[in-house]
Amino acid sequence: MQFLSLYLSLILLRVCIIEAIQCSIENQDRVDCYPETIPAVKEHCEQRGCCYNSNPNVNDNVPWCFFPTDYKAYKLSDYKTTPHGFQGDLTLTSGASHHFVDEIQQLKLLVYLETETRLHFKIVDANKPRYEVPIQTPALQKAAENTAYKVDVQNNRFGLIVTRKDTGVVILNTTIAPIYSDQFLQMSSALPTNDIYGLGERHGGALVSTNWNRLLFWARDQRPQENENLYGDHAFYMGIENDGKAHGVFLLNSNAKEIELQPSPALTWRTIGGILDFYVFLGPTPEEVVQQYTQVIGRTFMPPYWSLGFHLCRWGYGSSNNTWDIVKRMREAKIPQDVQWNDIDYMSKRLDFTYDKTTFDTLPQMVEDLHENGQHYIMIIDPGISNKQPTGTYPAYKQGIELDVFIKDPRTNAPISGEVWPGSTVYPDYTHPNINSYWKNQLSGYEDKINFDGVWVDMNEPSNFVTGSTTGCPNNQYEDPPYVPHVTGGKLQSRTLCSSSKHYNETIHYNVHSLTGLLEMKATSEVMASIRKKRPFVISRSTFPSAGMYGGHWSGDITSTWPDLRQSIASVINFNMFGIPMVGADICGFSGSTNEELCIRWMQLGAFYPFSRNHNMKLTRGQAPVDFSTPVQVPMRNALLKRYLFLPYLYTLFYSSHINGTTVARGLMIEFPEDHTARKIDEQFMWGSGLLISPCLYVSSSRVNAYFPRGLWYDCTTENFGNKINSQGQYETLSAPLNGSIPLHIRGGNIIPAQYPELNTVKSRKQPFILFVAPDNTGKACGQLYWDDGETLLGDGSIKHVAIDFVLLDNTLSSYASNFNYTESMMVSDISIFGISTKPKSVTFNKKEIVKTEIVNGNTLRVEVSADLKENFELKWV
Ligand SMILES: *[C@@H]1O[C@H](CO)[C@@H](O)[C@H](O)[C@H]1NC(C)=O
Ligand SMILES: *[C@@H]1O[C@H](CO)[C@@H](O)[C@H](O)[C@H]1NC(C)=O
Ligand SMILES: *[C@@H]1O[C@H](CO)[C@@H](O)[C@H](O)[C@H]1NC(C)=O
Ligand SMILES: *[C@@H]1O[C@H](CO)[C@@H](O)[C@H](O)[C@H]1NC(C)=O
Ligand SMILES: *[C@@H]1O[C@H](CO)[C@@H](O)[C@H](O)[C@H]1NC(C)=O
Ligand SMILES: *[C@@H]1O[C@H](CO)[C@@H](O)[C@H](O)[C@H]1NC(C)=O
Repeated sequence: MQFLSLYLSLILLRVCIIEAIQCSIENQDRVDCYPETIPAVKEHCEQRGCCYNSNPNVNDNVPWCFFPTDYKAYKLSDYKTTPHGFQGDLTLTSGASHHFVDEIQQLKLLVYLETETRLHFKIVDANKPRYEVPIQTPALQKAAENTAYKVDVQNNRFGLIVTRKDTGVVILNTTIAPIYSDQFLQMSSALPTNDIYGLGERHGGALVSTNWNRLLFWARDQRPQENENLYGDHAFYMGIENDGKAHGVFLLNSNAKEIELQPSPALTWRTIGGILDFYVFLGPTPEEVVQQYTQVIGRTFMPPYWSLGFHLCRWGYGSSNNTWDIVKRMREAKIPQDVQWNDIDYMSKRLDFTYDKTTFDTLPQMVEDLHENGQHYIMIIDPGISNKQPTGTYPAYKQGIELDVFIKDPRTNAPISGEVWPGSTVYPDYTHPNINSYWKNQLSGYEDKINFDGVWVDMNEPSNFVTGSTTGCPNNQYEDPPYVPHVTGGKLQSRTLCSSSKHYNETIHYNVHSLTGLLEMKATSEVMASIRKKRPFVISRSTFPSAGMYGGHWSGDITSTWPDLRQSIASVINFNMFGIPMVGADICGFSGSTNEELCIRWMQLGAFYPFSRNHNMKLTRGQAPVDFSTPVQVPMRNALLKRYLFLPYLYTLFYSSHINGTTVARGLMIEFPEDHTARKIDEQFMWGSGLLISPCLYVSSSRVNAYFPRGLWYDCTTENFGNKINSQGQYETLSAPLNGSIPLHIRGGNIIPAQYPELNTVKSRKQPFILFVAPDNTGKACGQLYWDDGETLLGDGSIKHVAIDFVLLDNTLSSYASNFNYTESMMVSDISIFGISTKPKSVTFNKKEIVKTEIVNGNTLRVEVSADLKENFELKWV
């Protein structure tokens, strides 16, 4: 008896020791096993086979319930080579009791070695299909050879380890193997770095905190604030490793998600549907990571040239005459403007595809006037279609019923109704095969009245002012799933439709909710191209990976505050990494009233958003440049003229993004990943690799403490033109008076094509070109110019265009033009070469001596030429 009890207590002791070891995990390394609540309850935790350890400090976010080191999940077997890579069977370890509802017993792991730098792996249910995101990704013929990565698997407790071959850095190590139940899928990985970027849409700095940071993904009409799920879903991150090499990881999944980062550093993906479908990109440069990512999700649409100009909008002009009046005042004040917009107040009773013929009586004439002046017009469209208009009076509803394209209420199979601006509305189902014909009917019916040029699609999360529907939601597993990511509002149906609403072919809203914006953009872009036979221009609030193929994005309903001014740079950097480079924030802020100083600073910064639009809330003070006094207009005008000066460069960057998937605006970490200071900078940014923008972002300040990564930088403000900074990687204090220019520097090694600015792009495109030539430390530089008519659809590449390479070498600037049938004149009149302080003995252009040369500011050689850029030239000085 005594012997037996001794024996038993030994066993117990042994169990305790084992348990202690399995659960002895440093705080920072604990992967949350009970994400439902913080802190977790012991009993619930232990039911999951996890370790419980109450934490002395609730506020530090360390999980109280966490996975033991030997947590049993899936066992990998039958791992074998396939033509694409590898595959294996994953079997839930028998006896493992996890208490996640409906765990799937048999999974399949599919590993595709897609390219040298791209790995793709999926984990699917072995026995039945699950929902997969319907975006087109590259098809694979056979496995790549000589991959830059190595894939190892751990069999017994399944895990996957991806290593960068040349440096041995472990990019992924899925230490806590997947939880894979019907409505809760999770995977964790160690991260090789704390320098993580991307993951959005979110409000905050460019660098993602790894300090117990839980990010939420579920499209929502939500004023941008930290720790809330916002309009778009982009589960893509880029990590910069210690040595400066970068990698990217993308989870292709459209269900509601969380991604939690922790200090070890590690990351956990949690999603409540679909499959686990990951892409890993090996770079090794950050820019290559983005290119590899956009190769999967699709390259950027080619914007019309006019869309690169300045856009002006506000909610609450109240009438077409007031809108028109602003346009006229902008012209009189000689402030550049390409596009005028209207928000929902143009509509009759806020109904899509109508306009108010009482207050917006002169809208068609205003649009004609814009066109006659080389300007363009865009108006807003919301997805909610009113279902409460007198029968037969509202074609948008009638035709939608006829084509059966509205999202349905699962209880009745009739269109589900929510409430948006016009009151009770139904919602087009953008997954429906009839959607383009429906959308085309609406947009072209409208076009008969108003000859608009682009479309602004708002409220497409989709937004709903009542929870779920006007009649609530049913109770079912999609409305109340076993696990709800910590989304704002606490429920999936909050501020949107019921999750069990039905789309085409019985697809549930639960799966496709966050795709609404993307699919609306796609339909709108395709329909606009077919109506206008010109390049479409679409700006959307909600986005998903691939959205950049169809349009751009603005960062939503931000406020007129200094913090939101500063934060806007991170959103521009992020969306460029998400493959949506046409992005900007509402200049001067949307909600709340702006003030002179803030608005000047914002116009200076916003002049360098790829998408540059000043937009304002109703009932707040006017913030168009012409709403301010004449002296205040001066720096605003100057900032915009600087933008227009550099538009040929911006256009070329967009073309490069369209062809090669590069970013247009980019953070310094993208260009200088080895520079650990540059990695943290998000109050400066670049256009391409050549132009550094260092705006003043603080109240009452007239200086910028700007960081300059190693290299030569040439000032191109009017005040300090040509001043050179030879940086070892250092901060410089720049003067930035409120009425002066925004600090801009051209990076040594670049040749930037520009054009004398004008008040709109039709005019500026006819101006002479200028070249800014910025030699690097070895006297070399290069650059490019892409040019076409700015609006013809690119088609299969048959568009008439010119592509020019500029090269500086040995005091000789050469151009190599490839002309594909472009015939318009492209005169260049000025070439400025930085870093030359004394007049050369001789300057020749195509072997002829040039008469007009001068040294500007004691540091720049300026030569006047007259030549057509379609012809090759050679400029030489000795
Ligand atoms: C992966 O993670 C596990 C658990 O943390 C660790 O034991 C193992 O060494 C890691 N493997 C690699 C290659 O880093
Ligand atoms: C708009 O201006 C036109 C031309 O001046 C005028 O005829 C019309 O009545 C105005 N509309 C409104 C709503 O004031
Ligand atoms: C409808 O859904 C079923 C089951 O998911 C699928 O097999 C079928 O291809 C779908 N049909 C269409 C037309 O999308
Ligand atoms: C695309 O990338 C290739 C390879 O780097 C380069 O040669 C080409 O010039 C790029 N095209 C554009 C339009 O930037
Ligand atoms: C800015 O204001 C200062 C002081 O009023 C003035 O001296 C300067 O000329 C102004 N600069 C510009 C570019 O208007
Ligand atoms: C130029 O146009 C001609 C006639 O349309 C066409 O055959 C040719 O392919 C075009 N050339 C280029 C380089 O696009």
